[in-house]
Amino acid sequence: MNTRNIPKTGEAIPVIGLGTWQTFDVSASATKPLGEVLDAFTAAGGKVIDSSPMYGRAEERVGDLRGHAPGAFLATKVWTSGKQNGIDQMTRSMKLLRTDVIDLMQIHNLVDWRTHLKTLREWKDAGRLRYIGITHYQAGAFPQLEAILREEEIDFVQLPLSVELPDAETSLLPLCQSRGVGVLVNRPFEGGTLFRHVRNKPLPSWAEEFASESWAELFLRYVVSHPAVTCAIPATSSVRHLAENLRAGEGRMLTMEERAKLRRLTLSS
Ligand SMILES: NC(=O)c1ccc[n+]([C@@H]2O[C@H](COP(=O)([O-])OP(=O)(O)OC[C@H]3O[C@@H](n4cnc5c(N)ncnc54)[C@H](OP(=O)(O)O)[C@@H]3O)[C@@H](O)[C@H]2O)c1
Repeated sequence: MNTRNIPKTGEAIPVIGLGTWQTFDVSASATKPLGEVLDAFTAAGGKVIDSSPMYGRAEERVGDLRGHAPGAFLATKVWTSGKQNGIDQMTRSMKLLRTDVIDLMQIHNLVDWRTHLKTLREWKDAGRLRYIGITHYQAGAFPQLEAILREEEIDFVQLPLSVELPDAETSLLPLCQSRGVGVLVNRPFEGGTLFRHVRNKPLPSWAEEFASESWAELFLRYVVSHPAVTCAIPATSSVRHLAENLRAGEGRMLTMEERAKLRRLTLSS
């Protein structure tokens, strides 16, 4: 799988990661398919797994299944208000994820971000976090993300980007490039609703060059072909879907022209 360097350190990470919202929020007795997903993910070179205390039992399930993803790059979030609540929540996340060091701790949806940023810096200095970041899932929050990235030293931003929602490309992604901020992309399939645009559409003939067999692969290729993007984190509980998604991390990237063509084709009726 292709990798991208984390701008602040040069550490290489694979361009396709794995989200856990909803898919990993399952009971302990229902983890068999997820173990298979993680086996296939790891075998293909996948590393980045993104979770949050907001996702119910997801962190706990990731922790249970750590044996299926040795060497994972663990990203999770703090999603509460108040300094001590943040500390308690991050401590609990470490316990659930069964680790003493979190690779990336992000402030979820910017909740009480000024308070948590101080703690995140302290924990990073103490070696408990390797990278720190901020996240949002709505384009309406982009001006605030931009303002924070201009003022603060942040390693990563997590934001939405898709064929249907390219808004981050206007100024947020160029800002990340100039500020040396890594970019994780959430909701690359718009939570799954992106596929409604292509229900009866054949794949474009030029997809043959990539031996592409799915719209999912093309949609993810659109995302990771943007040079500012470090890693996309689609969620899936299906090994078949995972295989399609992983293929987007192989081979050459789309040109800006090809990306525009894919957008037009997807959104045309
Ligand atoms: N504020 C934040 O920080 C924030 C907000 C939103 C999301 N996130 C993170 O970003 C991750 C991704 O976002 P998301 O889960 O909301 O949405 P998403 O990845 O855009 O879409 C997930 C949906 O797409 C389906 N899917 C996946 N691969 C597919 C394929 N190859 N073909 C057809 N359908 C496919 C999945 O169903 P199947 O299981 O059937 O494959 C699932 O229903 C989250 O899991 C979470 O980790 C963070």
